[in-house]
Amino acid sequence: NAKLYHEPYRPQAHFSPKTMWTNDPNGMVYYKGTYHLFFQHYPKATVWGPMHWGHAVSKDLIHWKQMPIALYPDKLGYIFSGSVVVDENNTSGFGTKGKPAMVAIFTHHDPKGEKSGSSVFQNQSIAYSLDEGATWTKYAANPVLKNPGIKDFRDPKVFWYAAGNKWVMSLATKDRITFYSSPNLKDWKKESDFGQMLGAHGGVWECPDLFPLKLNGKEYWVLLVSINPGGPNGGSATQYFVGHFDGSKFIPSSNQTKWIDFGPDNYAGVTWGNTGNRKVFLGWMGNWFYANDVPTLKWRNAMTIPRELSLKLTAGDIWLTSTPVEELDKIVTKTIKVDAELLAKNNNIFSVIKQTPTQYTLKFNTKAVKDYSVMLSNDAGEALVVGYDAKNSRYYIDRTKAGQNKFSKQFMPKAYAPRLSTSLTSDFELVVDVSSIELFADGGLSNLTGVFFPKKPYNRLSIINNGMEIEHLQIQPLKSIW
Ligand code: FRU
Repeated sequence: NAKLYHEPYRPQAHFSPKTMWTNDPNGMVYYKGTYHLFFQHYPKATVWGPMHWGHAVSKDLIHWKQMPIALYPDKLGYIFSGSVVVDENNTSGFGTKGKPAMVAIFTHHDPKGEKSGSSVFQNQSIAYSLDEGATWTKYAANPVLKNPGIKDFRDPKVFWYAAGNKWVMSLATKDRITFYSSPNLKDWKKESDFGQMLGAHGGVWECPDLFPLKLNGKEYWVLLVSINPGGPNGGSATQYFVGHFDGSKFIPSSNQTKWIDFGPDNYAGVTWGNTGNRKVFLGWMGNWFYANDVPTLKWRNAMTIPRELSLKLTAGDIWLTSTPVEELDKIVTKTIKVDAELLAKNNNIFSVIKQTPTQYTLKFNTKAVKDYSVMLSNDAGEALVVGYDAKNSRYYIDRTKAGQNKFSKQFMPKAYAPRLSTSLTSDFELVVDVSSIELFADGGLSNLTGVFFPKKPYNRLSIINNGMEIEHLQIQPLKSIW
């Protein structure tokens, strides 16, 4: 049997749990030089089940060490998604000023209540750690925010709103986000609702995140909202709003529905807390349409590459861009510039660079914005195509022949991302791993993430550019993180 972390389809540059199931990333916080990643986890099977919080730590966002399970289900229910804060001012009283507690705020999902047909089976609870996340104690008076009668009432993301000297929680409440505030993480007061009339509503809203970002020195607030189903290519996806937040209300500055990633496999993503002005996002590389069915054996599902978020003004509106964090450079073995003439003679990048990496980045610019595509293929006749379709002004991923796809009727072979940039040139960046591809186009304005499961690893990589000039083509093979 294949060694742990090296089984067929196991990502080599992305976090996945040692064994068994994961979905959403949870509790992401940076504390004392360590990035914490908790994750929705069922340690007894490779399918969704009674949720726990798994835990992993990293010094660099790239290499992860899995820790013991942080939170187990209890009599109040399963441990659904949520966040972790460092209570520096000891507002909760769980720590001391010199030794602050890490406090987890999560949803208790009571499966018995759900079965009984009651609508109040999701409540918000807290737990704290005094040893940097190693062990956790649940608060005796849980839940701290009781369900007012809304079936979908979950995924609290909390941050310290310094200007108002209070904690602010964003909570997904069916078809909107409800903001709450608290002086101490225990007593919560409703501030406002947002979104019932805005954005996409093809499914329930989940996993919000609210944070400020600057553009040309001016502060804006970004609200991430995952939605399932109802994504732009079917199933799960994450939309966002840019606007203003005054400690109580979020006011969007545009009515446009925007997606952080249009691909089928980037869901429930949120950002790390405590990273200063930097905002780093991580999503779950899965889609509820088929995440329980993908053909892996020891574990199921992985996270995206951590992504740096910024704002960008394009076509009179403000958009969020995502690009792989610069820490990814840590596992770059070398940067190979690919000579266009050589490539014209032998259109297989792997034979030009004389190696066949399974995980790598690929970047290039195009001098015009015409059709082009990148094809990954193998000797089993399988191919994954990702590219740009000028006629429809959109990027795409085509997984029609990319490998196994019969495991679910809901697997969608094609996904599209509109081109938002108005530039007359384009830039194209891929992060490819054993079973996933992430496209960041035009500096991360139009993104597509998808998983794939070829019978044999892809051993050929070619570009179809129909004579259009491609510049600065480079490939960076990546070391395995395991
Ligand atoms: C999103 C989600 C959350 C919930 C969790 C349960 O993928 O449905 O809303 O808290 O997964 O595992």
